[in-house]
Amino acid sequence: MSQVTAIKKSNITDTEFLNDVISGLTQQQKTLPCKYFYDDKGAALFEQITSLQEYYVTRIELSILEQYSQSIAQMLPENLSIIEPGCGSGKKVAYLLAHMANVKTFVPFEISEEMLSYSLAHLSPLFPDLAISPLLGDFTHNQMVKQLTKDTALDSQTNLVYFPGSTLGNFSPVKAIEIMNNFHRLCGVNGYVLIGVDLVKERQVLLDAYNDKAGVTAAFNKNLLQRINNELNGTFNIDNFSHESRFNEQHSRIEMHLVSNCTQSVIINDQQIDFIEGESIHTENSHKYTLESFKQLAAQANLKLEQTWQDDSNYFALCLLRPL
Ligand code: AVI
Repeated sequence: MSQVTAIKKSNITDTEFLNDVISGLTQQQKTLPCKYFYDDKGAALFEQITSLQEYYVTRIELSILEQYSQSIAQMLPENLSIIEPGCGSGKKVAYLLAHMANVKTFVPFEISEEMLSYSLAHLSPLFPDLAISPLLGDFTHNQMVKQLTKDTALDSQTNLVYFPGSTLGNFSPVKAIEIMNNFHRLCGVNGYVLIGVDLVKERQVLLDAYNDKAGVTAAFNKNLLQRINNELNGTFNIDNFSHESRFNEQHSRIEMHLVSNCTQSVIINDQQIDFIEGESIHTENSHKYTLESFKQLAAQANLKLEQTWQDDSNYFALCLLRPL
């Protein structure tokens, strides 16, 4: 049987959620942090997105893993622990685990308890001898990561920090560097970081990937307003907002917005927020990199790009980094 140690609780509070929501919705360009997409319903909707025809990201990354997991594993030493921040279903790490000998421990690190349980249920039967040590928490919290690194002494061993799915693209370049600095700390001095990077490509392919015909991405985006209604006593009329994907050339990123269909007011925990018709809430950025722009970004976190694996169309890359 695989050994599973206790889940550590996240310390995101309702107060933090409320503060982030009010502060985002009182800026001139209204915003909401995309990390709040992932309540249990949002995580399930995201799982559906990953199977959509338009959303090439997961399909192509999985095909790269299928083709190159063995070559990736050959670059890594034995007796490594794998830490996966935002592990989702745990499906992607299974490709690597299948090719790696003597993995010491697998540490899934997730904000959604449901996804964490799901990944455990998925991985334990597949790898019965694998020690699994789950962490429930927010890997974007630098302090939390520092504390967890200290508590678990993870940095004193050699680890692979595995961050597939191009989630790094959801952060500003400044925050992405901070996160890669955290990975640098977590992987240990002789460690490795493997990151999935969505590459710059034709604009329409990008726009469609974030605005599918079946409306799953729209439901995912709007679920954020429903979450505010449920958890913060919000009064959003969800039907009064429309989902939009936009490509911002200057910042090389897809943006998701929720556009107000009319002039309206919403109350959140006694605070009134006014919208004019056509005004948007900017809910997500998804940065798209070239290999060169990604290499430069990683260098700012003192990580050196050692090797990349890509699909034939150069839509996506798995990038192996090591501390400089
Ligand atoms: C989680 N992340 C990598 C997704 C992305 O592609 O930026 C989130 C997403 N948003 C809409 N569709 C998928």
